[in-house]
Amino acid sequence: MYFIEHLIYLLSALLFVVGLKQLSSPATARRGNLMASFAMLLALVVTLVQYPPITWTWIVSGIILGSLIGAVAARTVKMTAMPEMVGLFNGFGGGASALVAFAEFLHFLKDHTPQASLAEASTIQLGMLIGAVTFSGSLVAFGKLAGWITGNPVTNRFIQTVTALLFVATLGVGVYLVLGEPTLPLFLVFTAGALILGVLLVNAIGGADMPVAISLLNSYSGLAASAAGFILGNNILIIAGALVGASGMILTNLMCKAMNRSLANVMFGGFGVEGATAAAVGAEGKTVRSVDAEGAAMILGYARSVIVVPGYGLAVAQAQHDLKKLCDLLEERGVDVKFAIHPVAGRMPGHMNVLLAEADVPYNKLYDLDEINDMFPDTDVALVVGANDVVNPEARNPKSIIAGMPILDVDKARQVIVMKRSLAPGFAGLDNPLFYLDKTFMFFGSAKPSMQDLVRAVRELS
Ligand code: TAP
Repeated sequence: MYFIEHLIYLLSALLFVVGLKQLSSPATARRGNLMASFAMLLALVVTLVQYPPITWTWIVSGIILGSLIGAVAARTVKMTAMPEMVGLFNGFGGGASALVAFAEFLHFLKDHTPQASLAEASTIQLGMLIGAVTFSGSLVAFGKLAGWITGNPVTNRFIQTVTALLFVATLGVGVYLVLGEPTLPLFLVFTAGALILGVLLVNAIGGADMPVAISLLNSYSGLAASAAGFILGNNILIIAGALVGASGMILTNLMCKAMNRSLANVMFGGFGVEGATAAAVGAEGKTVRSVDAEGAAMILGYARSVIVVPGYGLAVAQAQHDLKKLCDLLEERGVDVKFAIHPVAGRMPGHMNVLLAEADVPYNKLYDLDEINDMFPDTDVALVVGANDVVNPEARNPKSIIAGMPILDVDKARQVIVMKRSLAPGFAGLDNPLFYLDKTFMFFGSAKPSMQDLVRAVRELS
């Protein structure tokens, strides 16, 4: 049985890796997700068969309750609230690993042999540290995104000093628990220190930077699961945790790169807070050209090529289905329509891909930043829907706070239509010179009703 158990674990691990690989393209992501879920089911069944629990009541109740919560949450969550849900689920993962560490510490206190104690004790402390930081940090991230606690970064010199001291003290207690005499009260102090650390670290990050923090916490929850795997001597948990840890870290790195910011800047920076004032000043005294639905329909309906640039505003307004209708109508008129996807458009990785997939926009019409930027100069109209920072030419100004952030070169298209409600800045809090170009037309209004008017106006074109 030992051999079969490990063979199935190996198969699960292979399926995890292939599933993860398939997640990297929207066309195969669904299959990848199913594959990885099946692998997890396989691993669970084998573990339960191999190590039957003392009582099945808890296991079965847990599976039923967990599946119910997961299914209801996944079905009812709004696309814009997805980061909150992921944040909360990360927290549960970290909390579960912390509980495993706690239970194992109680066993360890009862009967540990001096030879085994060093490795075992250090894995338990590591599991508790990462698990508890992930748990409390993810709850704070959830609270910030849901608007339950302030979205502003809560940090100053004093808090930073307290955090650093607490970090050193918690580590010190952890080392003593490994090398010295482990006791339950000391372990509880260690746990409390880790929980408070999680709160302080995430509270110092602004609400708008939460998606990056959540991706980092996701990676931590994987490391915590891996530590739990070491504690329990379970290979598949070690592998699955390591995969989550590594992919979360890669995702965090990609998000930071796409914003041209370092992780340290995201964690301790407070981005987008001061910029908001700069934007108001920058917008003074400049004029823009605005257009209504009929005017925009004329420009789009008689163009040969259109590149649509979706952004956060499209997601908030839930205008993706009307956008799809518009694009179908334009294509019927012989217009070549493409979509330009910026890696950090919206508020979570893949936000725009998911949104457009929901509206059945074919994958082959979606182009990445690198693929599409050279096409803008030969494009008649760039239609920007609720996007701002990802098309802000200020990124080319070395003095700007978004200097070096890769952008979609919308300003190089022959004409630009920007659909948004006002001249207000986006996430980075910066004014956008694109709005004031002679070739740009602002189509003011919330994206959904504006898009519906535009669809009507294009239908009425001869
Ligand atoms: P933003 O720069 O945030 O701009 C979105 C624009 O949407 C706003 O300027 C807003 O203007 C408009 N808007 C809001 N509600 C609207 C509605 N109902 N109808 C029409 N427009 C509406 O968005 P972006 O260009 O997608 O850039 C994303 C930003 O988020 C980047 O700075 C990125 O670094 C950051 N970020 C992204 C991620 C990920 S992973 N995607 C993670 C962290 C941070 P009005 O108020 O005038 O309408």
